[in-house]
Amino acid sequence: MSNQLYALSGQFETPDEIMHAAEEVNKKYKQYDVNTPYPVHGMDGAMGMGESPIGWVTLVVGTTCMLLMLCFIAWIQLVDYPTTFAGKPDFNLPGYVPILFETTILTGAVTTVLTLLFVVCGLPNNAHPIHDTNYAKRTSDDRFGIYVEAKDPAFNEAEVRQLFEQLGAKDIAPIYIDAEEVAAGKNMSVLKPQFIGFAATVVLVISGAAYFGLNHMVFLPPYNWMSVQPKVVPQKTNTVFKNGVSMQLPVEGTIARGFIPYAKVGAKEGFGQSMANPLDPTAEVFALGEQKYLTMCSACHGNYGQGDSRLNGQYPAPPSLHSKKAVEWADAEIYHVITNGQNIMPSYAKQLTRDERWAIVHYVRALQRSLNPKETDVQ
Ligand code: HEC
Repeated sequence: MSNQLYALSGQFETPDEIMHAAEEVNKKYKQYDVNTPYPVHGMDGAMGMGESPIGWVTLVVGTTCMLLMLCFIAWIQLVDYPTTFAGKPDFNLPGYVPILFETTILTGAVTTVLTLLFVVCGLPNNAHPIHDTNYAKRTSDDRFGIYVEAKDPAFNEAEVRQLFEQLGAKDIAPIYIDAEEVAAGKNMSVLKPQFIGFAATVVLVISGAAYFGLNHMVFLPPYNWMSVQPKVVPQKTNTVFKNGVSMQLPVEGTIARGFIPYAKVGAKEGFGQSMANPLDPTAEVFALGEQKYLTMCSACHGNYGQGDSRLNGQYPAPPSLHSKKAVEWADAEIYHVITNGQNIMPSYAKQLTRDERWAIVHYVRALQRSLNPKETDVQ
């Protein structure tokens, strides 16, 4: 212990007393601090502290990391590894909101805490003079303490002592600077080499024993190392195929079972005639076709397909489905119009499944024949 004075400290028994003491001390001194066993609400006000700028750290770090994460996602999804999820566009902002939110909160919160500990509070600090004093012991237990530092321009030991006495402080005591601790400073080498060596030995022995035990002593027939067999792992390189990809695309022209390939949007000319309605005209199919026609088509084409729209001129009246052209069309051409739309009639491919569209074609055929029956139909 040197004789260099660091501060004069006083202790109080209640939060009210310390609040009052802080207000009084704040009137004259600037270099002082308060130590309490738990956070005392309103202390920052009593000490005349303004609003903390720490929020800016949170804002800047959180926002920056959020933008970096957004760039990272954009790079993955647009450049490095575009992947389609549930048919959404490659870059799909709403889906990234949870990720961006979490990134902002996590980086903002962690940086705020680390900034408080290491920048604002200057930890780790083994050299603070109040370490190991009676003052530090009591204020981290059951007393409320305040000390005025000797470097305060208005500091005068006798005056401070008098002020503390007036305020009713207990155990008014000077705090001296410990030269040895100051010399050690923030240097963590105060951790003895023996301690570091011991900790390293413990880590090495435990992990070594676990590794040796699990790999060379434990034998588990017949389940041994099933996970190490050669197999195709998604997203991993695969030496079996030339292009080194595990998730091979189907060979071009592959058709899924039960799926009837259909020419793409826009390709109308010539494709249709060869394609027959895959559904048999059973009573069930007609019932389905009727129900779907009435729901999806009748609002414009009329209940019997005569173009007498219920929309009453709100929408351009569609042509009759009994025209010579429509009657002579192949099934596939009607199917094509339902699937792709035609001019102002929109596509119904999203609202109707493939089978529902073909069922509607049967129903339209039935409507056409009901207006213009063949002789055989009437017999
Ligand atoms: C929103 C109103 C509307 C709905 C609903 C609608 N259509 Fe149309 N449809 C039209 C219009 C308008 C035309 C004429 C388009 C044009 O100008 O070529 C048309 C044309 C057609 C044609 C071609 C007729 C021709 O002579 O060129 C067929 C076939 C047809 N629709 C069938 C259907 C079927 C089947 C449904 C139910 C799945 C349906 N439409 C639903 C408005 C509609």
